[in-house]
Amino acid sequence: MSVIYLDNAATSWPKPPCVEQAMSRFLAHDAGNPGRAGHRMAIACERMLDRLRVQLSRLFDAPDPQRVIFTLNTTDAINIALKGVLRSGDHVVTTTLEHNSVSRPLQALADAGTITLTRVPATDDGFIAPADIAAAITPTTRLIACTHCSNVLGTIQPIDAIGALARDRGLLLLVDAAQSAGVLPISMRQMHIDLLAVAGHKSLLGPPGTGALLLSDRVDAAPWREGGTGGDSSHPVQPAEYPYRLEAGTPNTVGLAGWAAALEEIERIGPGNMLEHERKLAARFTDAFRGDDRVRLLGPDDPGRRTGIVVFTMESIAPQELAALLDESFGIAVRAGLHCAPYIHRQLGTFPDGAVRVSPGPYNTVRDIDLLIDAVRLIRDQSEFVS
Ligand SMILES: Cc1ncc(COP(=O)(O)O)c(C=O)c1O
Repeated sequence: MSVIYLDNAATSWPKPPCVEQAMSRFLAHDAGNPGRAGHRMAIACERMLDRLRVQLSRLFDAPDPQRVIFTLNTTDAINIALKGVLRSGDHVVTTTLEHNSVSRPLQALADAGTITLTRVPATDDGFIAPADIAAAITPTTRLIACTHCSNVLGTIQPIDAIGALARDRGLLLLVDAAQSAGVLPISMRQMHIDLLAVAGHKSLLGPPGTGALLLSDRVDAAPWREGGTGGDSSHPVQPAEYPYRLEAGTPNTVGLAGWAAALEEIERIGPGNMLEHERKLAARFTDAFRGDDRVRLLGPDDPGRRTGIVVFTMESIAPQELAALLDESFGIAVRAGLHCAPYIHRQLGTFPDGAVRVSPGPYNTVRDIDLLIDAVRLIRDQSEFVS
C-alpha cells in the first residue's frame, strides 16, 4: 500500500527530487571537510556552506550571513540560543504554546535555579496576546521566547507586535520558527527577532539533520559546545568570530548541500503558494466536518490566522487508536498524541490523550484529503456502532 503522508509538521515528505540529486552529487564529488585553509574539496565544501548562509540570511532578512549557525535541527538551535545567552538571575517570558524544544530547556534552567520563568497562557483559540507578554515582564527579564506558529493548532502568533515590545523594553526575542519557516514570511529586521531557530527538514524541504540559528547583531552568545572549526587551531579556546564561535565539529555537509537545493525549489514554488495550497487542503477537511458533533475540530475557524495544520478529536475513539487505524487500514500517516506541546493540550482539555493532527505539505493533493475524509467518516460511523 502506498502511503498518503499527512505528517509534514513533523518532517516534510517527500523531498523535492533536487534534494536527493544534490546530496548524491555532493557526496560523490565535493564532500571534503570544510576548512578555509584546506585543499580543493575542503574549499568547495566551505563555499557551498557560505552560499547557503547567504541564501538563508536573504530568506529571513537577517543582518549578517556570518551569523547564520548551522545546527542539527530546531531543538539544537534553541538549545544553542538559550544556553548561549541566558545568565544566572535572568527572567524569561515564554508561552503555553511552546514545543518541548523550548519549554524543556527553559524548565531545566529554572529547576537548576539559573533562571526564573513565566509561562504566559494562550487565549482559548490559541493566540498569545502581546499585552499578556508585556504584563509578565519584570526588571530582571532578559528574553522573550515565543513560537511563530503553534505546531498543534497552526495558529500564527503576532511576532511583529511582540518584537516591537521586546525592542522597546531592551529585551532579546527568540522565535521558534520550526513551523513557519518556508510557509510564512519572516523578516528578522522588521520583526525585531534576535534569535531565529529554523528547521531545514520541515517546510524548507531539506533533509533530516538540518537546521539553523540566525542571530541579530545585538546578540552575544557563548558557545554551548566547543571543539574544532577547521580554521585557526592555535588558540586554546573557541574562536570569538561567528559562525565558528557556535559551530564545533564536522557539520552535516551532505544534508546541508541537500538543503541548499531545497531552498531553490522553495523559491520556485513561492512560499505564498505553499501556504495557500496547504490552507486549501486543510479547509477541505474542516469543511467536511464542521458542524459534525462527533468530530471536534480544535482551534479558530478563521483560516487566515492559521497555517495548513488541522487538529481534531473524536469522542468514540482515542486519538492514538484513530491514527493507528488510519495507518494500518488506509495507509494514511497522521500524528496523534500531545505533539510535544503538553501545555497547550492541557489548556484545550485534550491532555493526556492529545488529538489527531493532519499536516499537509506542498506535494499533497485534493485526492489525499478526500481519501482521509472518507476514512475518518468510516471510522467515525463504525466506532460509534462498536462503542
Ligand atoms: C514548534 C516546534 N518547535 C520545535 C520543534 C522541534 O523541531 P526539530 O525536530 O527540528 O528539533 C518542532 C517539531 O515538530 C516544532 O513543531
